[in-house]
Amino acid sequence: MPVMPLEYQVFDPSQCRFPRPRVPVLPRGLDLSKADDASLQQSISPLTGVGSHYSRGRYALGEAYRRAGVGCDGALLAPSYHCVTMLDPALALGAEVLLYPLTADLAPNLVELDALVSCSVKSIKALLATHFFGFVQDFSRLKQWCDVRGIAFVEDCSHTLFFDRYQAKGAGQYGEFIASSPYKFFPSADGGWLYTRNSTSHPVAETQPAGWLAELRGMKQCLDGARQPRLVFGDIANLDGQLSALADQAPQTGKDERRLRSAHSSQYLSDSACTAALRSSRWLINHSSLCVTIERRQANYRRWLEAVAGLPSCRALYPELPEHVVPYMFPLYIEHPMPCFYWLKQLAVPVWRWDEMAISTCSVAQDYRLHLLHLPCHQSLSDDEMNWLVAALSMVLRKSVVGVCR
Ligand SMILES: Cc1ncc(COP(=O)(O)O)c(C=O)c1O
Repeated sequence: MPVMPLEYQVFDPSQCRFPRPRVPVLPRGLDLSKADDASLQQSISPLTGVGSHYSRGRYALGEAYRRAGVGCDGALLAPSYHCVTMLDPALALGAEVLLYPLTADLAPNLVELDALVSCSVKSIKALLATHFFGFVQDFSRLKQWCDVRGIAFVEDCSHTLFFDRYQAKGAGQYGEFIASSPYKFFPSADGGWLYTRNSTSHPVAETQPAGWLAELRGMKQCLDGARQPRLVFGDIANLDGQLSALADQAPQTGKDERRLRSAHSSQYLSDSACTAALRSSRWLINHSSLCVTIERRQANYRRWLEAVAGLPSCRALYPELPEHVVPYMFPLYIEHPMPCFYWLKQLAVPVWRWDEMAISTCSVAQDYRLHLLHLPCHQSLSDDEMNWLVAALSMVLRKSVVGVCR
């Protein structure tokens, strides 16, 4: 049976000519101070068991889907709000993907999930559930729902601290398969991890080690990242003039269009599906300071919360940071993506959003696609860099309100 193509809504920014971000969106540098102390107990716990290494989380997800039976005859249930790399591996297996709706805080909507499954003609083999932005969710009812229907539960821990040695509190307790992306938490060149609870009838695909050239490139990437020039305090003073110049020009809007696709995106490389993570990445991840990673991420997240509390036309998606959460990014809902997103990008602020997304009936996903910004809060941000990020966001949001009120 041919695969139903998915229709995507894609924002194409190529006409906008956005500059390279002035601050890295992911950690960089080498913070190898080993300081595992008692405060770690609150946020993480040691992990026992076996896992396999991949170069990215998407390939770990791909192996989980394959072993769960996702393919030409077995569909995948995935969250409506997603990054394309969460669906790519299923499309690479020739599988159909059904998108289930989410509530405003990005929890799966169980009632609508039931309705979706009852309409499906294909047998559903796996469900992907994500702890978005590191905020660990209680998936116990969802796991039960899967168990009753014989659907494999794939727990997406890509936004949580979950790797060889440790797991963030609460993460990884539900999945038959648990996939993570440790390179999002540590300054390594790559890193994806798959942890399997139960063996399935599908044999494990062996991974191949990366070649020495790739190892050397990975090490160079880390060293280059550590040497990149840092922003300094004086850069804040320039923001006002830069923003005024931008506000005087007509913004280049970019293209936002629908595209049909039945194959995976170019971000999924089939040749890399069975390549193991670089040895240097694994070493770096295992020798990075967890205390620094956790404490600085939490402090930067709180800094964002304080900063946005008095700002117009925006709200933090998660306005509380529980003690055990190690945040991946700071998700911020903005009312006016235009001009705010455009100005932030032109100021070279490292802001992400999932503006390429398969279309679903979920109004939350549709709304968040352009309105939900992902702002960095990683441990490598210096105080000057955080001050610059906060200043840029504050100025942009205030200026956008003046423009709207005029
Ligand atoms: C929630 C989520 N899951 C899975 C992935 C895939 O992770 P990776 O980039 O390691 O392939 C991503 C990618 O950003 C993601 O955001």
